[in-house]
Amino acid sequence: MRVAIDGPAGSGKSTLAHALAERLNLTMLDTGAMYRSVTLACLEGSVDLEDDEAVTEVARRVRIEFQTVEDGTQHVLLDGRDVSEAIRTAEVDADVSRVSAIPAVRVAMVEEQRRLAATGDVVAEGRDIGTVVFPDAEVKVFLTADPAARAHRRALQRNVENPEEELAILEDLKRRDEADSTRETAPLVAAEDAYRMDTSGMTIEEEVQRITELVEAAKASVPDAKQDEIGFEDEGKQKADATESPKTAPKKATPKKASKDASDEDKPAGRMRVFAHHEPDEFYDTAERDFPITSRALLGVTIGVCGILSKTLWHWKLEGGEKLWKAEGGQVVVMNHESMLDPVIIVVSGWMHGRRMRPISKSELSKNKIAEWFFARVGAIPVERGTADIKAIRRAQRALQRGEDIVIFPEGTRIHSDEQEVTIHGGFALIAQLAKAPVLPIAIVGARDGAPGGNGPLRPGRVWMKVGEPLTFDQISEKNRKKRAKEMERLAMERVYALRDELRAAHPGKM
Ligand code: DC
Repeated sequence: MRVAIDGPAGSGKSTLAHALAERLNLTMLDTGAMYRSVTLACLEGSVDLEDDEAVTEVARRVRIEFQTVEDGTQHVLLDGRDVSEAIRTAEVDADVSRVSAIPAVRVAMVEEQRRLAATGDVVAEGRDIGTVVFPDAEVKVFLTADPAARAHRRALQRNVENPEEELAILEDLKRRDEADSTRETAPLVAAEDAYRMDTSGMTIEEEVQRITELVEAAKASVPDAKQDEIGFEDEGKQKADATESPKTAPKKATPKKASKDASDEDKPAGRMRVFAHHEPDEFYDTAERDFPITSRALLGVTIGVCGILSKTLWHWKLEGGEKLWKAEGGQVVVMNHESMLDPVIIVVSGWMHGRRMRPISKSELSKNKIAEWFFARVGAIPVERGTADIKAIRRAQRALQRGEDIVIFPEGTRIHSDEQEVTIHGGFALIAQLAKAPVLPIAIVGARDGAPGGNGPLRPGRVWMKVGEPLTFDQISEKNRKKRAKEMERLAMERVYALRDELRAAHPGKM
């Protein structure tokens, strides 16, 4: 598990990283301390900081180590000497931005950071962790806080009581923010998929709690086989190791040994066992092709029966279907929601062309055990509506990254008439953003007449669907991540309703 924490000076990265390291038994990596140590070595050796080559030579030569002492605090050693305090002076503050802007210095530091973290579980904090050092970190966080709050925090850390001095800290923070954000190599920017957290009004407990939830969600959405691959250990094992290992960081995380069981070796990685009890969660986290053969048979039969019945009763047709069937990777399919037929028909039509489609279903549908059992096996992923259901979002993201399609009805509930008030649930844009997947708008008409819901009987008739052009984030010029997602939401739903109008115009009388 790698947790990347980035953010400007004084945003609370170190405090948060320390607390997380302790709570989750991770090795803490303070990358700022490394740039500070190089700066200190240069100042002490009277190296000209304008001479990039000389500074780089220092960065390559020095030995930087971290050591956790008895009281749990982490100390920084520069060539064996404890410099934990010496690297936090105003002199180092003043020059560290200059040193950290030298590209070759960064190359040397990033290499060292990856080496220090190579053994496994780490929480690393800095400016470029989520973007450069560990772009594939399982959890990425970008902290912000208003400058005055950050300066005050720093002043408290340094026991500064004089307002003049706090003002000087504030000025220095602003200067470093500017330098760190505008430098050419690895500037301070949030990774696209980072979780942004403004810590101005938060307590450290709240921060830790929130990030712990993200870590739990990330763990839950990585199948066991994958956890082995990236070096997860089970909790009990970690605790035992922690008490035995010397208090020197970084601790070595020993990856679990691969099973030597012969029957396991025959299995493709991640395939679920046939004769075993499976929790619904395992289905949500696994590719359909890795479901146990019994579940795949059930899915095949369900699709077959639904396909024959729905085709016979409603002769449904999907215009422009090749945009769904021939797509390269997973897509986020968004549709208007008229009746229970919508998910059935779209999943069946995708399946007939070899697509594996995972509908996002409201969690209420899986409240009773039988429904939960069934929906899990037909590939549905439940979402808690009206909440930021990070678990569901991550599951959908990973399904897309495996090449499965996600089917979402952003209206959240069936819309029985055009007069009904509609609230669009925007999670689909965030999912697409995280997975870097296109959004495919599709409209459906006729399903409302065919299966009106409630006690209304099924009525044979015709159902039409139409697929629009895929939408990608490249088409959106907005730079701010949240606004980009909002714009994608707006565009996609606008397309869905335009497609629906086209269908209604082509098939008068169909709602
Ligand atoms: O987090 P800090 O204030 O200790 O960092 C000191 C400086 O090091 C900061 O001004 C920017 C730089 N830095 C960096 O460029 N990249 C990192 N990953 C960490 C810190």
